[in-house]
Amino acid sequence: MFKTLRLQLRFLLPLTITLVAAAYLAVPLLDQVTLRWFARDLNSRGQLVAGTLSDNAADAIASGRYERLRATMERVAQDERLFAMGLCSPDGRWLVRTSGFPRELSCQQAETVAAQPEHRLNLAGGPVHLGVHPVMGMPVQPLVAQTPASAASSAAQASSLFVGPLIEPRATPGNAEPVQLGQLVLVHDLSFMERRSQDTRRYLIVFLAVLGFVIAVITMVVAQLSWRGWVNGVRAILRGEGLLTPMVPAPELAPFAKEMQQRLRDLEDEYRRLQGPETEWTAERLRALLHSQLRGDQVIVVSNREPYIHEHGDDGVVVRRPASGLVTAVEPVMRACSGTWIAHGSGSADREVVDAHDRVAVPPGHDDYYLRRIWLSAEEERGYYFGFANEGLWPLCHVAHVRPIFRENDWETYKAVNQRFADAVVAEARSEDPVVLVQDYHFALLPAMVREKLPQATILTFWHIPWPNPESFGICPWRRELLQGLLGSTILGFHTRFHCRNFMETVDRYLEARIEQEHSTISFQDKETLVEAYPISIEWPTPATVAGWGPVVDCRQRVFARLGLAEDTCLAVGVDRFDYTKGILERLNAVERLLEKRPEWVGRFVFVQVAAPTRSSLEEYRSFQERIERLTARINERFGRPGYQPVHLLAQHHEPEQVNELFRAANICVVTSLHDGMNLVSKEFVAARDDEQGVLLLSRFAGAARELTEALIVNPYHVEETADALYQAAIMPSAEQRERMASLRSTVHEFNVYRWAGHMLSDAARWRLRARVEARVRRFQRTDLTALSELRTSVSDRS
Ligand code: F6P
Repeated sequence: MFKTLRLQLRFLLPLTITLVAAAYLAVPLLDQVTLRWFARDLNSRGQLVAGTLSDNAADAIASGRYERLRATMERVAQDERLFAMGLCSPDGRWLVRTSGFPRELSCQQAETVAAQPEHRLNLAGGPVHLGVHPVMGMPVQPLVAQTPASAASSAAQASSLFVGPLIEPRATPGNAEPVQLGQLVLVHDLSFMERRSQDTRRYLIVFLAVLGFVIAVITMVVAQLSWRGWVNGVRAILRGEGLLTPMVPAPELAPFAKEMQQRLRDLEDEYRRLQGPETEWTAERLRALLHSQLRGDQVIVVSNREPYIHEHGDDGVVVRRPASGLVTAVEPVMRACSGTWIAHGSGSADREVVDAHDRVAVPPGHDDYYLRRIWLSAEEERGYYFGFANEGLWPLCHVAHVRPIFRENDWETYKAVNQRFADAVVAEARSEDPVVLVQDYHFALLPAMVREKLPQATILTFWHIPWPNPESFGICPWRRELLQGLLGSTILGFHTRFHCRNFMETVDRYLEARIEQEHSTISFQDKETLVEAYPISIEWPTPATVAGWGPVVDCRQRVFARLGLAEDTCLAVGVDRFDYTKGILERLNAVERLLEKRPEWVGRFVFVQVAAPTRSSLEEYRSFQERIERLTARINERFGRPGYQPVHLLAQHHEPEQVNELFRAANICVVTSLHDGMNLVSKEFVAARDDEQGVLLLSRFAGAARELTEALIVNPYHVEETADALYQAAIMPSAEQRERMASLRSTVHEFNVYRWAGHMLSDAARWRLRARVEARVRRFQRTDLTALSELRTSVSDRS
């Protein structure tokens, strides 16, 4: 109500000011107009009076006797508005004047005033209106020629009421023309006019005031009604009813409705983004789930790559965190859940820091969980890791046009190492039903091996790389063994439904198993495995973590200074392991094409590739690294010049903090994997950009492309398309970057790694509950059967 009043005041105030101004201007104008009207009125009245008296006046002049004329004039002058009158001779002397005639007024003065448009004269007694009207008649001869003496006496005569006879009344020849015998001067009182004008002024002001008041009241009423209508209309729009709802007739809102709804949706999106996910998955929530639904059961992780590597450095032993998506994802889960992580101890100083059971508490200084290290001989590593896992399964599953190599020896070693890790799991288990999280393609056989020793264990296997179609997988000589090994899992997880489908079709093709598509389960040899998609992610940075990062401008300054980049450089970055599946060659080709197509970017566009060396003892990886180096050199030679190097290849390991700084400094992050299960680099870039700036260019062949749809999605095999996307990213306006990045951040925030682990553990908990219930049912059934057979025996005995 108060708001409505305020709104109305905004209208009423200008209205009042306008009305006051109108009154101020109208009053003098009105005065002038009425004065003219009155003057005209008085003139015509004067003419009437003069016309009536004209004969009397002419007679009086002709006879030289003015008493009767004067008496008549006195009578006429009794009219309330005619104040006085007099008769002037043609030579400007008074012949006769009524009693109230102003003494100071001469005939000439009267004539002068009457010639003016307003005929107004201010006398001591107040304003008067003068009318001078000619008196026409036959010419008369003067009785006595005027002498200087008589002229001298005229002043004295002028003060008397009657001055005649000054002219001799004499007959004029019969054919003479009428001439002006004198002038009748009428003095009208104007004080009544003043009074009228004041009245008019008063009426006008009252009228304007009343008018203003009426307008104000009408405005307020109409505004109140309209306001209610608009408010209801807007409410209807907000409720999404639109303007078609008959209850809300506000057609004037129609043009705004669409815009308003659009804006509201934007605001809602923004609000949701700010609020974050409704029920966010956090470390605490994951811990709570573990304790409530899994009753605090022990968690054991098995992976090849260890989360912390102890190395000999210049200043003694240093701890390094490997460039591994698996580690990035699983490590925060382990910090939340505690337990034991079993992994290959690959660091040069690893043995020096473990206890008698080959365990070391990590993270250093926090000791949240144990890292149990398994030592592999060089031969074991060659056969199991480099050989079967990375020369066989890796290219087999990635379909990246590198031929898989399968050697019998490698396979044997792979089996043996899987067994060693499985034995370690059994040794670490404190109960018969631990939760075992098996990671990746290095351990396809391990689930069945653990299941054999710990049938009650909940085994969750996550395959971090793609799963190919049955034909591609079929080229592996040990395809059946691998599938059987994986089906030892309680739950087998992939990043996408597409990979789940490929796996189920592969099982269908090569094993005798029952597949239930509807429940996504596979029953093989009386054991059931749930095959599900769990898109992996990263830990969303906490406010404390973000606070430690430092502003984006500082990151940019440091990185630019380190690389010697000009201030206006558009910086694109790629962060990968030196792996042929990552599409590093393809993105370099795209950078080269961009500089070719858009020469204006030469000197202003710089691409930095961080490439951590990996699996370098394999020929395929070594030659891949060499090709990258050659291509980099070629581009730099072609487009570089003093002070400008278009491509910087940083082929060394970078710690997560350094990568984060680079992400924050960059304009563009380029992820062009030729095939990737998920790709966590893309999510790390998004998490790093709390300024909501920066563009993510993402391969459609990375699992992340299914979630991060606001990225610029490219086909890395198409150089032209990727180069154009680089250009689009380079010129993308800040507002569009913000829009895309805010949405990406909201996705990664919600679908974080705790959600990934939480969903798997919840499914596992449900699974365990089901298994327990089934066991109890079986027990009852057994008891019932025993009782039944006992009953039968006793009945037959009796009979
Ligand atoms: O992509 C699957 C994955 O296990 C990643 O988690 C990791 O980045 C990589 O493969 C393994 O690399 P490495 O052989 O160096 O452990």
